[in-house]
Amino acid sequence: MKAMTVGEPEIREAVTMKEAIDAVRHAFVDLAGGEFEMPTRTALRDGQFLVMSAHHRSTASAMFKTLSLNFERKPAITGTVTWSETGRLDHLIADAGTVTALRTGAVVGVATDLLAPPEAGRLTLIGAGGQAPDQVRAVHAVRPLRQLTVVDAALDRAQALVESLAPELPGVELLTSTDAGSAVREAEIVCCATNATSPLFPESALPAQVHVNAIGAYRPTMRELPDALLAGSTVVVDELDAILEESGEIIHALEAGAITRDALTELGAALTAPTADFGKRTVFKSVGVAVQDWAIARLLADKFLA
Ligand SMILES: NC(=O)c1ccc[n+]([C@@H]2O[C@H](COP(=O)([O-])OP(=O)(O)OC[C@H]3O[C@@H](n4cnc5c(N)ncnc54)[C@H](O)[C@@H]3O)[C@@H](O)[C@H]2O)c1
Repeated sequence: MKAMTVGEPEIREAVTMKEAIDAVRHAFVDLAGGEFEMPTRTALRDGQFLVMSAHHRSTASAMFKTLSLNFERKPAITGTVTWSETGRLDHLIADAGTVTALRTGAVVGVATDLLAPPEAGRLTLIGAGGQAPDQVRAVHAVRPLRQLTVVDAALDRAQALVESLAPELPGVELLTSTDAGSAVREAEIVCCATNATSPLFPESALPAQVHVNAIGAYRPTMRELPDALLAGSTVVVDELDAILEESGEIIHALEAGAITRDALTELGAALTAPTADFGKRTVFKSVGVAVQDWAIARLLADKFLA
């Protein structure tokens, strides 16, 4: 057996955001079609260690990811993604921090492409941490941006992010802020990528038409979105079982009676039976599921395993 190891530079060189978005879209369609075996992830030490796995039946391939999360540390997310096929002796081991950022961006690209108005080009991103650059790249890949406002509790992080992304966003107006409430007022797309434990803005701060992605909260104790936004929007989620176990905002809104379970549509179902009109306000909530990592690992295996 040989194990091929790929780090951030090789992954970035090998996979474009558009490729990642297409691969993740296909994976969610396959998830809806019953092609995957995907247990809910194991969370240890209240989510400081995670173990995730997905098996794709028709290719007899599997992805196993281990993560260590610590928001006092930079990068906050480290670990390994291992790709394995029953028909092949060689394995691929990839840097989990890079795969995670890429696939978390990619799923937001899939959802934004499905749910945001075609002409939307004004993005407010809240949270300028490790996930942030790929959130921007993914939205830009499906809705070319005219304006980007980055909000962070630490203004220097927001400024550093826009400076680092500027070469990739020629002609895009770049703004920074520490005030999420005012920064979402004229947004057409909002991305939330923080480790917050309470809503980042009141529902009343949003315009009548907006698409909101929220990827930050992955434990029942974490929340980025207010109940009133979920109550008044079409809500698409990555995978229902994972969401009901881990998404603080969905659990909170269900317990408060703001929404019912029937109001939640899985991304795979939305992709395979798209409604012509999702309404003026749409929300995509993702806690992150293993089929996303499988999709990126497959792209890497195709490129790096002979
Ligand atoms: N859904 C998924 O698939 C997925 C994948 C990876 C990470 N995550 C989660 O996304 C979140 C962000 O991850 P990261 O790696 O970017 O973390 P990070 O620690 O690198 O960055 C988080 C940023 O959010 C900012 N922030 C926190 N609370 C804020 C608030 N109330 N207002 C404005 N800014 C605020 C912090 O200042 C920081 O810059 C984490 O909770 C992480 O677990 C989810």
